[in-house]
Amino acid sequence: MHYCDDSLYDETLTLLEADFQYYYDCLMGPNARSVLAALKRIQPLTIGQIATGHGPLLRHHLADWIERYRTWSETQAQAEPFVVIFYAAEYGFSERLAHTIGQGLLKTDTAVEVVDMLDTDTQTVRELVTTATGLVLGMPPQTAPVSLEPILSTILAAAHPKQAIGLFETGGGQDEPIFPLRNRFQELGLRAAFEPILIKTTPTEATDKLCEEAGTDLGQWVNRDRTLKQSKSLDSDLGQALGRLSTGLYILTAKKGDISSAMLASWVIQASVQPPGLAVAVAKDRAIESLLHGGDTFVLNVLEEGNYQRLMKHFLKRFGPGADRFEGIASYAAENGSPILAESLAYLECTVTHRLEAGDHWIIYCTVKAGRVAKPVGLTAVHHRKASNHY
Ligand SMILES: Cc1cc2nc3c(=O)[nH]c(=O)nc-3n(C[C@H](O)[C@H](O)[C@H](O)COP(=O)(O)O)c2cc1C
Repeated sequence: MHYCDDSLYDETLTLLEADFQYYYDCLMGPNARSVLAALKRIQPLTIGQIATGHGPLLRHHLADWIERYRTWSETQAQAEPFVVIFYAAEYGFSERLAHTIGQGLLKTDTAVEVVDMLDTDTQTVRELVTTATGLVLGMPPQTAPVSLEPILSTILAAAHPKQAIGLFETGGGQDEPIFPLRNRFQELGLRAAFEPILIKTTPTEATDKLCEEAGTDLGQWVNRDRTLKQSKSLDSDLGQALGRLSTGLYILTAKKGDISSAMLASWVIQASVQPPGLAVAVAKDRAIESLLHGGDTFVLNVLEEGNYQRLMKHFLKRFGPGADRFEGIASYAAENGSPILAESLAYLECTVTHRLEAGDHWIIYCTVKAGRVAKPVGLTAVHHRKASNHY
């Protein structure tokens, strides 16, 4: 724990427990299953003292401290489905990819366990793979300092058809070959969460975005039952009444450096007159979400009544991770760099100033720096719905 006073040991439990739990929540909780596996491994030992890296040494309440870790971890581990990401640290760009795929998973509120294959054991791996809903595997080097064959065999032996798998490669010629392994997982009946990601050179922002979107795709699959249940759970009277809120139809477009994204949006409203400002509700697991942080810019394209079907259909397509969403769509750059769609009725150039967490969405408030109407007589497309659990 991050705690410091004059005592070397943990004499007074009540003094330490809040910090002990805070440390667990921040650093151990996200890896609850690994904690359980570690606890199992130390079970045969007679423990005299736990010499922590920082904070007081633990000696006086050992059984209590250990039991707390066990209870918290069991609660955490039972809570929800999770994905385990295997990678080989300090090899290629494995760690960076593992991290960005993990970020994409976290956008869908999926628990993630990240495991360095060079610093684990077959028992932990078996336990994690047996209980995970999804697996991600970064190809390890064939020239690793210790043979990873036992780890790979354990993963293959414990994997089962109810899981999804995603593979990535970052090192180049020395890696375990990715496609034979992909075929093995397919034969075992696992579902491919995303196409194998092959990185031959230094990862860029575009690769990061691709990995994040791959992680989000996997997370959405892992949580499909929960999402369905939640969308059905809304009381029907309430849901129908809420569904009477009608809005316009818009395409949000954003470009940041080399990466761009777009989304069909209807939850959009003017939110201030001075300064001119508007708010958009963006689901937490949207691809474009990571381009809408404070200071980021985007364009809100207003769709025209009677002339929006083509754009709507295009932007509602299921785009693969990292796909170019503007292919085949006429657009030109706004002053802030984001695409203005040639077919839109009007556009507004926006700068994000605030993000408010609103359940499963972010409310993005932005100020509007510029705008133009392309067709003075056109009307905005209006969107009426039947129920509130759909847009
Ligand atoms: C009519 C309609 C309106 C939508 N409005 C919103 C919205 O306001 N906010 C949002 O987050 N998603 C909205 N969506 C969902 C996204 O446009 C859609 O799921 C997106 O294309 C896929 O998400 P992705 O960009 O993460 O792949 C809407 C969908 C439809 C059909």
